[in-house]
Amino acid sequence: MSAHPLVPFSPPSDIGPFRIRPASEDDLPALVRLDTELFPDFAYPYFALRQFLDMYTDHLLVLDDGSCLHGYALSAPSADGCRSWILGLGVAKQLRGQGLARRLMQETLRRLPIDGVHEVWLTVEPTNTAAIALYRSLGFAEQGAREGYFGPGNDRLLLALRH
Ligand SMILES: CC(C)(COP(=O)(O)OP(=O)(O)OC[C@H]1O[C@@H](n2cnc3c(N)ncnc32)[C@H](O)[C@@H]1OP(=O)(O)O)[C@@H](O)C(=O)NCCC(=O)NCCS
Repeated sequence: MSAHPLVPFSPPSDIGPFRIRPASEDDLPALVRLDTELFPDFAYPYFALRQFLDMYTDHLLVLDDGSCLHGYALSAPSADGCRSWILGLGVAKQLRGQGLARRLMQETLRRLPIDGVHEVWLTVEPTNTAAIALYRSLGFAEQGAREGYFGPGNDRLLLALRH
């Protein structure tokens, strides 16, 4: 796969015992459990992850060690195909700080369709300093804060990566 103009990353190199790969139907129960651990208040229900798998097959990536899932990343294109949204990213608590989320993001960005996608967008809790630092280090820039973006009391920052 050649590099997308937005993101000249190569495939993830050494990530120890871990592998980043597209999710399969068999991963769904574990993925639902992991998502609930990562996002207790905003976990996707089973049916939503099931449909994301159907729709975004190669863009629902999991981090696995051969027996367990330890992280995932999900991206999805906008209807006009010009924008891609990061809809989920997380790594299990006990494995954080080892560069695994960075690898998931790099692989997500590397898989963007070459034609069409001009920008990548995401939202993040304004207090999520770890995620914000990661996104900034990948070139994302803040596009503003949105009060109540996910309903009352649930503000979000919007970030975008552009050419
Ligand atoms: C945010 C999250 C995905 C980071 O995962 P991770 O595997 O620990 O991240 P990495 O080890 O790949 O770190 C990548 C970069 O993130 C930033 N970062 C990670 N942890 C950090 C921390 N505790 N404090 C500050 N910056 C941090 C750093 O910039 C780091 O780069 P560096 O190691 O070169 O300094 C993880 O904390 C997580 O899953 N949180 C819960 C779910 C979540 O909030 N997801 C994001 C939703 S928008």
